[in-house]
Amino acid sequence: MNKSIAVVILAAGKSTRMRSETPKVLHQICGRPMLGYVLDLSRSLKAKKIVAVLGYKHEEVRKYLTSGVISVVQKKLLGTANALKSALPALKGFKGTVLVLYGDNPLLQKETASKLLKYHMENNLDATLLTAQMEKPAGYGRILRDKYSGICGIVEEKDADDFDKDIKEINTGIICFNKDRLSEALKFVKPDNRKKEYYLTDTIKILYKSGRLVDAVKISDINEALGVNSRVDLAKANAIMQRRINEKYMKEGVSIVDPASAFIGWGAKIGKDSVIYPFTVIESDVRIGRRCFVGPFAHLRAGTCLEDDTLVGNFVEITRSRIGSKTIAKHFSYIGDTAVGRRVNIGAGTVTANFDGRKKNRTVIKDRAFIGSDTVLVAPVSVGFDAITGAGSVVIRKVSDKTTVAGVPARVLKHK
Ligand code: UD1
Ligand code: MG
Repeated sequence: MNKSIAVVILAAGKSTRMRSETPKVLHQICGRPMLGYVLDLSRSLKAKKIVAVLGYKHEEVRKYLTSGVISVVQKKLLGTANALKSALPALKGFKGTVLVLYGDNPLLQKETASKLLKYHMENNLDATLLTAQMEKPAGYGRILRDKYSGICGIVEEKDADDFDKDIKEINTGIICFNKDRLSEALKFVKPDNRKKEYYLTDTIKILYKSGRLVDAVKISDINEALGVNSRVDLAKANAIMQRRINEKYMKEGVSIVDPASAFIGWGAKIGKDSVIYPFTVIESDVRIGRRCFVGPFAHLRAGTCLEDDTLVGNFVEITRSRIGSKTIAKHFSYIGDTAVGRRVNIGAGTVTANFDGRKKNRTVIKDRAFIGSDTVLVAPVSVGFDAITGAGSVVIRKVSDKTTVAGVPARVLKHK
């Protein structure tokens, strides 16, 4: 633990520009609320304290906080400076560096945050900004520099004149402060801007004017600077995060034929030498073993587990089910709430009818069963070891081991 670092996450804002009732920080990126990524980063820095400032629908957001994170409520959403002020009581007695993270900035990486902290602490600065050079910096605060190139303030886009708008160095929102200097500066922030808000960015001019030391570290990958304010930003962040996730799997030995069309949720597990074919959706809570083939056009939903060497092909949807090793489901199937054994053949068009209009029911298919094409398994139901269902069967009753059934409803044809 680093006793001289505290992290404050600003996450109180509404979803105004998202045009959403859901708090902005709970909007999902690769199957996970964006706040989750910021919390992970905070934890990885081993700070003495992590404080999350909540506001809009705070009870809902609080459920997503991880253990050890202190939450405070910003009563009125008066701006980012006011948000940080609400966190100060939780930092009482703390001396050192306060790192401010924004809950709508989910792509920042640990290495970058560490670099910023290191620079700030080694140079004994009062405030250190993380800035980025952007060709089209629309929407971001612009960095103002004096004639010696020293940072002297930040101007928000809404208050910027045409000259300011040409500045291509932007504020990412990530800032390190010396705690005492921050507390002092916050007292002087006034809502004298077009939005009539207390801007955290105004602390920079205040510190500069009182002769404090302000500097910046420039980010090298501008993707990390992305602040998610709109649905368009959300889609951009999702695409960048998806690329990172897919590259991680590839490094671990998973083949992804077309990474641009493999939609894999954060936290899914995929074993070595598995191959993911194009247009496949794998949700977060999915586990795939080794040497599996998935897709094209497969949808593995939450609670799916594929054991080693399984094969799931086109237009197969699986949810809350375990599929045993060496089982094959190659074409057009829905498998829900099902335990499938090993070496089972799931014929084309197989459907588990798991919902009776009120509740979900389970299906069990034992090892080596052969499910004929177009079989409907009306749950709750089970199919025994080495049993066979004929093409087009509608199975409404338990099928015993080594038994063949066929028809609508399915009847026993013969014992093997
Ligand atoms: C902010 C910065 C801008 C920077 C950009 C980077 C300010 C004034 N501006 O603008 O310079 O370029 O981020 O993405 O800081 N929040 C609260 N309480 C509030 C208001 C906001 O907790 O009263 C939180 C939001 O939940 C969000 C973060 O602070 O996580 C930033 O707020 P947002 O409204 O998105 O600021 P930007 O306009 O993006
Ligand atoms: Mg923002």
